Amino acid sequence: MKKLYIETYGCQMNFADSEVVASILKDIFALTGDVNEADLILINTCSIRDKAEQRIHKRLQELEALKKKRRDLQVGLLGCMAERMKEELLETEPVLDFIAGPDAYRSLPQLIAEARQSGPQFNVMLSEEETYEDILPVRYDVNGVSAFVSIMRGCNNFCSYCVVPYTRGRERSRSPKTILAEVEQLLRDGFKEVTLLGQNVNSYHWNEGGEEMTFAKLMATVAGMSPDLRVRFATSHPKDISDELIETIARYDNICKYIHLPVQSGSDAVLKRMNRSYTRDYYMQRVQKIKSLMPDCAISTDIIAGFCGETEEDHLQTLDIMHEVGYEYAYMFKYSERGGTLSAKRYADDVPDEVKTRRLEEIIALQGELSAISNRRDVGKRFQILVEGASKRSEDQLYGRNSQNKVVIFPCGQAKPGDYVEVVVHDCTPATLFGEVIE
Ligand code: SAH
Ligand code: SF4
Ligand code: F3S
Repeated sequence: MKKLYIETYGCQMNFADSEVVASILKDIFALTGDVNEADLILINTCSIRDKAEQRIHKRLQELEALKKKRRDLQVGLLGCMAERMKEELLETEPVLDFIAGPDAYRSLPQLIAEARQSGPQFNVMLSEEETYEDILPVRYDVNGVSAFVSIMRGCNNFCSYCVVPYTRGRERSRSPKTILAEVEQLLRDGFKEVTLLGQNVNSYHWNEGGEEMTFAKLMATVAGMSPDLRVRFATSHPKDISDELIETIARYDNICKYIHLPVQSGSDAVLKRMNRSYTRDYYMQRVQKIKSLMPDCAISTDIIAGFCGETEEDHLQTLDIMHEVGYEYAYMFKYSERGGTLSAKRYADDVPDEVKTRRLEEIIALQGELSAISNRRDVGKRFQILVEGASKRSEDQLYGRNSQNKVVIFPCGQAKPGDYVEVVVHDCTPATLFGEVIE
């Protein structure tokens, strides 16, 4: 059988999609981890910021050199960049034999065959229905403990800076029946943790025979499948994280006490231009609801520095809300203008790059302090850890996560990946907790 090598960039949804792609191609290609022995190389791409795309262009240049040596090698590009740039990419990147957008993966066998016969091919059609719900992903490159399950695709929110609604198309939910069947299979295969995935999981919605399935109900159903299964989710938009969902997370021990709640900015004026459709007050009220029901719940966030028109005062408000929430963790970015988005059309990208850089550095430094404070608070506490594997630093150490999604490192003892162990934390860095297993 011919060999397939897949390289994935971008968000967890792209990683989940690559597993779907591997499944669609499994009768024609066997997966390989060695790019040099591949007959087909697929690059699953991300367009979220300019840097992400630049990285892919560079990678394609490297592959061009490889292709010169191997005449029958095929290279295909998948994902958000294919959707954003469309067939123009085939002209600017001659190394590519074909490109396929996020909703076009079922046509891959055909694209591959036609590209071999008659030159470059593309399919960048978006769909209003496609969820690949009947395709059981091939779980490659995983630790056998924790897996992602895609529950919806696309996004309707149109935050003004964001390409996702254009690259992934309209929001659509996957049927609960196929989601639950996939989780059942993971349980049979020994997995201990699932993360339910979508760009905005709170708007998950399914209606069948008059019965309504909300995201909170779906979470409760998955959590009810086994007390041994941990349930996580990503990502929730603050505007519609409901009381029902927060109460559900609080009610189930095996729903992890960790919520990723991207704030983007602490300034109402900036939030408005970002089209986030919540105010700072509303966001804080959601955080208070979470903390009042679950004082031990970790909250992480995404922050954009230097969005169009952001003043020094706006920036200070971002630092201020970070203090106020006391985030456990944050993903932090400089604003990167994306062609075709609302902000690119409406607002000038007018914060100078050195100002963006300085503001981002201040945000990163503050988050470092907040993470350190949060971790120091955990020293002396006891947590249940799901063991994921051997620590990178030393073979005698294992690592795993607590419910709050913090990485904990501890000496091996009898434990192995997939076990739950009780650990007492005795030390920490801003990024990691260190502990001992208690019997
Ligand atoms: N659906 C998720 C986010 C997906 S993109 C949500 O709404 O929370 C992940 C993060 O990338 C975003 O939260 C945002 O912080 C960042 N991002 C998106 N577009 C960006 C841009 N044009 N420039 C800089 N950061 C961006
Ligand atoms: Fe982008 Fe906003 Fe949709 Fe998230 S919710 S994917 S930031 S448009
Ligand atoms: Fe990137 Fe597309 Fe995900 S733009 S962040 S790979 S949805």
